[in-house]
Amino acid sequence: MISKIKIGIIGCGGMAKTHASRFETLMDRIEISALVDLDLEKAQAVADLLPNNPMVTSSYEEALDVCDAMLVVLPHHLHHQVTIDCLNAGKHVLCEKPLANTEQHCREMFEAAQQNKRVLMVAYCMRFHPLVNKLKEYIDNNTFGKCFQLSIWTEQHTEREPDNWMCRKDQVGGGQLFSHGCHYIDLMLWIMGKPVRGSHISSNLCTPWMEGEGTSNVSIEFEDGKLGYHFGTWGARGSKLKYAFHAHCEKGMLELDITAGTLKYYGDAEAHVPGSEAKQQEILLAEEPHAKPTAEEMRHFINCIKTGEKPLTDPVSSIEGLKVIWQLYEAEARHELAALRGLGLGTFKLPVKQHKKIRECIIA
Ligand SMILES: NC(=O)c1ccc[n+]([C@@H]2O[C@H](COP(=O)([O-])OP(=O)(O)OC[C@H]3O[C@@H](n4cnc5c(N)ncnc54)[C@H](O)[C@@H]3O)[C@@H](O)[C@H]2O)c1
Repeated sequence: MISKIKIGIIGCGGMAKTHASRFETLMDRIEISALVDLDLEKAQAVADLLPNNPMVTSSYEEALDVCDAMLVVLPHHLHHQVTIDCLNAGKHVLCEKPLANTEQHCREMFEAAQQNKRVLMVAYCMRFHPLVNKLKEYIDNNTFGKCFQLSIWTEQHTEREPDNWMCRKDQVGGGQLFSHGCHYIDLMLWIMGKPVRGSHISSNLCTPWMEGEGTSNVSIEFEDGKLGYHFGTWGARGSKLKYAFHAHCEKGMLELDITAGTLKYYGDAEAHVPGSEAKQQEILLAEEPHAKPTAEEMRHFINCIKTGEKPLTDPVSSIEGLKVIWQLYEAEARHELAALRGLGLGTFKLPVKQHKKIRECIIA
């Protein structure tokens, strides 16, 4: 059995630095063997965060020779070809979100993983956040009664130079919703279930650097009447909520404050009487220091490589989430509500083969 999995990182910009700075606890299981960026200084800057002396190169083809698995952290329009090349070279791939900019490209990536019997996982790191998992557990178990509304806010100021790929609609594959909101649509589908209809209303007021929207409002109705709302902006010059989830349930509201690292219950409120403040309980349910859960995500990827287990964030569920976003965008352009029935997690029709052969190839 192989001991350490040799990993190459392709694309050494902002997110690659985040990944590399969190590998410390995984160093008994992985070795970062190569860093790839067209800008070698950026690749070297990530190499400098690591204890070993990895290959630094501008060619991912060269890096493939020294790696078992690749972490693709490139602009979105490059995910498709690079991921397929890595899979065809027999490497496992953890690809940053969103998987690719079109459904056809996503399907081709999925098929390449199947044909080569390699793990393809999508880096939806928020699925590995302990407090998100705790929130989902409370909602799944109806611990505070049935949940009837989940709202998710992400408010940040993300601004790039006008010639940067993140400003270009064709390279991003859309705007703020596709690029960043894809995490939260994925979570909403995971937590709330099957969507029925929805709307997306967006704007690039005050984010003039964005060709697509810089501010996004999504409302979704789910089966059995539950509602979901997501507000995401890259134009926030100040914020109180920052990254927050509010789940309203029959007995009270669960508040997940990602930045503070807290999950709280506010509940048993007296009915509102005009002119007086209704008393309520406030209970701290769980705390977790804030950090992007990329180490947990990488641990899961390694585990899938070693055991052949299907990744939690596999390409199929990723396509399912992106299909909802594409449907929302198309309906917005027609000034209509999006028909979402038949979409959501667990609805994609391609046959999904299990990765049962992967283990054999690793051990061999
Ligand atoms: N999971 C998260 O929370 C999260 C957060 C931020 C970004 N991301 C994702 O990470 C990915 C990268 O985003 P980023 O913010 O790091 O972008 P970035 O622009 O900071 O970095 C991209 C890097 O890729 C390099 N590059 C471009 N073309 C290349 C090529 N052909 N070969 C080699 N290198 C090339 C660029 O020089 C740059 O250093 C995107 O998919 C993005 O959505 C994820």
